Amino acid sequence: MYSDQEAAALYDVLNPWGPSDDFYLALVMEATSVLDVGRGTGAILHRARQVGHAGRLCGVDPDRASLGVARRRADVEWVAGTAASMAWDSEFDLAIMTGHAFQVLVGDDELRASLTAIRRALAAGGRFVFETRNPLAREWESWNPGNAMDVVDPSGRPVRISYEVEALVGDVVTFTETTSDPDGAPLRVDRATLRFIAFDELARFLAGAGFDIEAQYGGWLREPLDPASLEIITVARI
Ligand SMILES: C[S@@+](CC[C@H](N)C(=O)[O-])C[C@H]1O[C@@H](n2cnc3c(N)ncnc32)[C@H](O)[C@@H]1O
Repeated sequence: MYSDQEAAALYDVLNPWGPSDDFYLALVMEATSVLDVGRGTGAILHRARQVGHAGRLCGVDPDRASLGVARRRADVEWVAGTAASMAWDSEFDLAIMTGHAFQVLVGDDELRASLTAIRRALAAGGRFVFETRNPLAREWESWNPGNAMDVVDPSGRPVRISYEVEALVGDVVTFTETTSDPDGAPLRVDRATLRFIAFDELARFLAGAGFDIEAQYGGWLREPLDPASLEIITVARI
């Protein structure tokens, strides 16, 4: 067995600080009030406070085990909930969704409701910045047991992590993440569903929620977006 708390603690081992975090941290440091939606274990807001952000930092996530890790810093506001459930009105000048959290918004209704709540939370001129994997790059094709990773979790226990796609229906990929002992004996299996929204459809959803697209990039150094880009990084403004 591998508990929700152990899995949440393992998240930061599997997702160490990288160029995407530098990209978002720079935006966070320029903003006075920041809403981080689908914040997970809290890494970017932790780092922002640590390096001197003096304004409002608020992280939202429905997963209590992840919030448990995030709450080790008490000088950031942590809220349990989904994007669509948020009720803030004109309070933040920046909202972010990092680590492909945007892709957990799978259904059209949930996506619309989430974008509406994010827009409502932003003050006039506020920006929403997020990324989604480019469906044209078909990244899910590399999510197979042949690419399993051996890592050591924060308690010092060696574990193996592997992914397997179960279904691709339209733009929605359902896959499993299996945590096992190094010899392959399974400890837990998590099933997840992600939407790989197309570029033009994303633009329609953003416009429908009242966002203008200010910029889009294909990489974390603000490379131009092209059909082969792995990421669609979007800066949207109200
Ligand atoms: C892939 S993780 C990304 C976590 C973090 N943003 C990062 O950069 O590492 C996706 C996160 O979205 C959260 N999530 C799932 N459904 C959500 C929803 N409806 N609204 C907001 N967050 C959600 C999950 O609990 C999870 O922490």
